Amino acid sequence: MPGKVVLAYSGGLDTSAAITWLKEKYGLDVITFTVDVGNEPDYEAIREKALRVGAVKAVLLDARQEFVERFVFPSLQADAIYQGEYPLATALARPLIAELLAKTAREEGAGAVAHGCTGKGNDQVRFDVSIAGLAPDLKVIAPAREWGMTREETIRYAQERGIPVPVTLASPYSIDQNLWGRSIECGVLEDPWVEPPDDAFIWVRPVKETPEDPEYLEIGFEQGLPVSLDGEQIAGIPLVERMTGLAGRHGIGRIDHIEDRVVGIKSREIYEAPAAMVLLQAHRALEAMTLSRDQLRFKQIVAAEYAWLVYSGLWFTGLRQDLEAYVRSTQRYVTGLVRVRLHKGSSAVVGRKSPYSLYRHDLATYDKGDVFDQKASAGFIQLFGLPARTQARAQDLGREGA
Ligand code: ARG
Repeated sequence: MPGKVVLAYSGGLDTSAAITWLKEKYGLDVITFTVDVGNEPDYEAIREKALRVGAVKAVLLDARQEFVERFVFPSLQADAIYQGEYPLATALARPLIAELLAKTAREEGAGAVAHGCTGKGNDQVRFDVSIAGLAPDLKVIAPAREWGMTREETIRYAQERGIPVPVTLASPYSIDQNLWGRSIECGVLEDPWVEPPDDAFIWVRPVKETPEDPEYLEIGFEQGLPVSLDGEQIAGIPLVERMTGLAGRHGIGRIDHIEDRVVGIKSREIYEAPAAMVLLQAHRALEAMTLSRDQLRFKQIVAAEYAWLVYSGLWFTGLRQDLEAYVRSTQRYVTGLVRVRLHKGSSAVVGRKSPYSLYRHDLATYDKGDVFDQKASAGFIQLFGLPARTQARAQDLGREGA
């Protein structure tokens, strides 16, 4: 009896070719596994294609809720953005898919799992490291990393075996998409000097096609989680979907980034992440009002570290868990309302309020009602500036500019 392998299956060319390749090369029975993380898979078409190409079984799963609750929202609370640009959509979905892949392998009695990642990207790292951590006994096979075929060779390989080659291959881009964002690579985008053509984007309109008038939106947060839009309670999935629609309509959320991959390559990455960008901005604005200066300073360090862990596939590690516990603790009072204006390609925070606000008008005001004792500042500055005065006296700091 041949062994079984569970293959993470998108229905695209590479993972379809992987079905026959795994059979031919390793003599394995292939069970395909397709997850919905907001990438809108056409379940029926995918199931049909998997079986037609030669899978013994096609498993489908909607994991959107889990994706939002366990991955997207915790990283929003952490303010995680890789290299200041990338809100990590693809990176966040990989550990979840890997976890479900391993679980399916157990249920199906398979000794191996497989994925369609190439040997140049980050996704292979995320899958392999996640599975090694969760199910070290499972063998991980990455056909596209092993077979060494070019795009043309893969197409020929598929045609020879009667695997339907999708017309969407006409699309010059390689795309990965989920609720939190869309990653777009390849084709003309590989020239970092070339402006990304409008046809690379489907969620974010070009600015010239956006409404003339600004639109205002009130986002309600409870302990760092977005829970309402314009006063109306709304669950995680529809909230993110609605924000994608709203911000995208106003041309907000295109990202063009030269990014450092885990394997050492610099690559030009295009993203659209309208909901993520506005929610991250609004969340940070509320934190600025409800966290102390020292909490904010330290949390920024944590955010960069957290983003790196997510990016580089180290989700299932003690450090990520530790940082998440810290982040959760910081969110106790991040409750309130943020008012954003969406207009012509950019979003701006124009108002914020919280029952736990640390902003005190009677301290900040220059008008009547001021309770801040300005005379106390002189003594404070006297001590605060002491090290600078001491050094200036001893070391002639004025010479620097001379
Ligand atoms: N550079 C992004 C990342 O590493 C996007 C990857 C897109 N993946 C893909 N299979 N097309 O997260």
